[in-house]
Amino acid sequence: MRLSVIPIWLAFIFLLTDIRAEDGSAAWLRYAPPPNAHQLQQYVPNKIAILNGTVTSPVFSAGKELKQGIESILHRNNATSITSHLSRTDIIIVGTLDQFTKAYGNIGSETKLEGDSFWLKYDTSLKNVYIIGADQRGALYGVFEYLRLLALGSDVSKLNVVRAPMGPIRWVNQWDNMGGDITREYGGDSIFFSNGNISQNLTRAGQFARILSSIGINSCVVNNVNANATLLSSSNIQGLARIADVFRPWGVQLSISIDFAAPQDFGGLSTYDPVDPTVVSWWDSKVKELYTAIPDMGGFLIKADSEGQAGPAQYNRTLAQGANIFADALAPFNGIVMYRAFVYNQLNESDMKADRANAAVQFFQPFDGQFRDNVVVQIKNGPIDFQVREPTSPLFGVLQKTNVAMEVEVAQEYLGQQCHLVYLPPLWKLTLDFDLQVDNKPSKVRDIISGKRFNRALGGMAAVTNVGLNSTWLGSHLAMSNLYGYGRLAWDADSSSEEIIQDWIRLTFGHDQKVIQVIQDMSMQSWPAYENYSGNLGIQTLTDILYTHFGPNPQTADGNGWGQWTRTDKYGLGMDRSVSTGTGFSGQYPPKVAKMYETFETTPDELALWFHHLNYTHKLHSGKTVIQHFYDAHYEGAQTAANFVSMWKSLDGKIDAERFEDVLERQVYQAGHSIVWRDSIVNYFYNWSGIPDTHGRVGHHPYRIEAESMKLEGYAPYKVSPFEAASNFTAITVNNTVGTATATLKYPDGVYDVAVQYYDLYGGTSHYEIYLNNNSVGSFYSNTTMGHTPSVYLDGISATRHTFHSVNIKSGDTLRIVGTPDGNDPAPLDYVAILPPGILD
Ligand code: GCU
Repeated sequence: MRLSVIPIWLAFIFLLTDIRAEDGSAAWLRYAPPPNAHQLQQYVPNKIAILNGTVTSPVFSAGKELKQGIESILHRNNATSITSHLSRTDIIIVGTLDQFTKAYGNIGSETKLEGDSFWLKYDTSLKNVYIIGADQRGALYGVFEYLRLLALGSDVSKLNVVRAPMGPIRWVNQWDNMGGDITREYGGDSIFFSNGNISQNLTRAGQFARILSSIGINSCVVNNVNANATLLSSSNIQGLARIADVFRPWGVQLSISIDFAAPQDFGGLSTYDPVDPTVVSWWDSKVKELYTAIPDMGGFLIKADSEGQAGPAQYNRTLAQGANIFADALAPFNGIVMYRAFVYNQLNESDMKADRANAAVQFFQPFDGQFRDNVVVQIKNGPIDFQVREPTSPLFGVLQKTNVAMEVEVAQEYLGQQCHLVYLPPLWKLTLDFDLQVDNKPSKVRDIISGKRFNRALGGMAAVTNVGLNSTWLGSHLAMSNLYGYGRLAWDADSSSEEIIQDWIRLTFGHDQKVIQVIQDMSMQSWPAYENYSGNLGIQTLTDILYTHFGPNPQTADGNGWGQWTRTDKYGLGMDRSVSTGTGFSGQYPPKVAKMYETFETTPDELALWFHHLNYTHKLHSGKTVIQHFYDAHYEGAQTAANFVSMWKSLDGKIDAERFEDVLERQVYQAGHSIVWRDSIVNYFYNWSGIPDTHGRVGHHPYRIEAESMKLEGYAPYKVSPFEAASNFTAITVNNTVGTATATLKYPDGVYDVAVQYYDLYGGTSHYEIYLNNNSVGSFYSNTTMGHTPSVYLDGISATRHTFHSVNIKSGDTLRIVGTPDGNDPAPLDYVAILPPGILD
């Protein structure tokens, strides 16, 4: 666009509305001007003094960031200068408290600063802004906070705040593999690894560090918890040092996951017994080699004795012995061991006392007090595995003489894989705010992990992230609110989910009130909606736990050793975890909480089936039966997901086209896939219980034409497994080069949406064309580009829909679908729904 041919007033409007195409790479650091930018000008000096000239220092980055941010937010074209002249007025001073005191003496800096904290002040008489950190990182965080306030249009004229993080552990755990893929990859390949080595081009890694730093994250584990020992080769250590080099200016420490068996797997020793002197010295020298290359490395993350990973149990050593060997090796370098509490064994479902939820407390409780001071036990928020709802892990209340951190998952592994909108801070806050009432004293999880409650020096949060090469970082623009929210909560767990999302929307999409309201509403409704259609009443996420963790497949929960059981039968479902008649899990909580969960009467509905096995006809506290709750919740959830489409569409023109279209595509997909979820789960439980839906919806689809009931040529019926993943249990697939399915429509004349329900299989791109009386309505390709883990089967993962809107249909019209298979994808069809306006089916 050539601005010179645009009238000045129009150019101004462009600037104000700020709807340039955006690819999401700037995340929330777009530094777009707020509506009151001009009012802020007078309080923001245009000279910046950086009290550290070393280009790799966080303070130096802070100065550069500040200049760039101010110029962009306040529309100052190159008008902010970085100076070495320490003038005493009209200047922004950025540095550590020590540097500041040396340069300026003690002007008002009596505030005590510790850890990564900072002091932010506008001095009205001298017209100075002070951004002073306890350490270099603190100064950088102070700059990001100042820029956040400016970009939000906040009043900066009376600034005088000290901000300190909740705890020193604010880590992210990337699960990147050395081949360049990522476990739970939904946003592109690794920004760190390719072909077994550290990538040559680490530009994105540096940009990621900047994003992390802007939300106060101080360490990033770059490789998968299921670690590959070859990471420890000398050449890879040199590569890790290159990653650390791009992290360093942003105050982000590099950390790595360790394979417990590395001394044997990689080092060639005959053992990896953690107390064997040869193993101890192997680790000592490896740690030395690492710290020689990366003197400021954060530490190790360890997954041991878990899901096939080696650990101390192999040699009958305790978890504490396992952790301490690393702690001792790392201590001289101030390194930290994050030792995961995700330790459990396969179990036998026929044993009614067996319970995977019991594992962490059983494994770790005996060793409380035996872990070194630089060990932090990293505990998932719930006792199983990032399900849509779990109670708080009782281990937080048990380890009172051990440092602990809470692990959450930004990667939406079980929660829609970044293809469904699920805003997660409300879920995380449930645990952070949960009061375990240890010794009958207030014991909120956030005060335990901050170290306050049990007087621990180390603690905080860690999040599993899956940032990749996709320009949006996570593969989805809206999913970024979870990364942002994680950082905000890890810094200050008191922040509210609403406040976080509002800030994120303003920074990411601008200040239009409607945009803020709609995205906030969608976000706040998103986790409840997802819970409604993917697993209610604490039954866990009823996804395919044996395959992709994506679509519905409730029967995979039972009949195996993984311990994510629902114990569904024809009378009811749920795990009895009471002490009196069940697995005893509720007894792992301190007495008041244990008592609450012990009986159904005092257990909140949302966890009813987590703690109790209930009949389908059991009345919940809400007054509904269990089965009717399932039916209603699933219909409600899918309806909310459908509403997201129209809510998002109402923002057309208020958001740049690139991001608008991208999000719209995802919302349309979610709306379709939530119907797959809804139908699978309600049909599954209807099939078990035989109890009809009091509202007559389940199994009743007046707007659908089953594909198998159409006239078929080249297509043949196919019994889908799991059965509930197909309407009427049956789909059709092409057994030839092309297939045709034809039906005569018997709907009253009118305008309808035509929804084609099909399966999008990995390994082929089929083509579908829809005709009405030989006139093409439109066509589409099946393409697995949405980013979730795909499936090679016809199932609840591959099931999806394509809708043609506003089609004129007359009674007696002929509908014909022509499917052309490709590769492994036989152009499968489940049904066609002819939907009158406002109907969801
Ligand atoms: C989940 C996930 C695994 C991961 C594991 C873990 O089970 O599916 O891929 O390795 O969590 O947290 O270690």
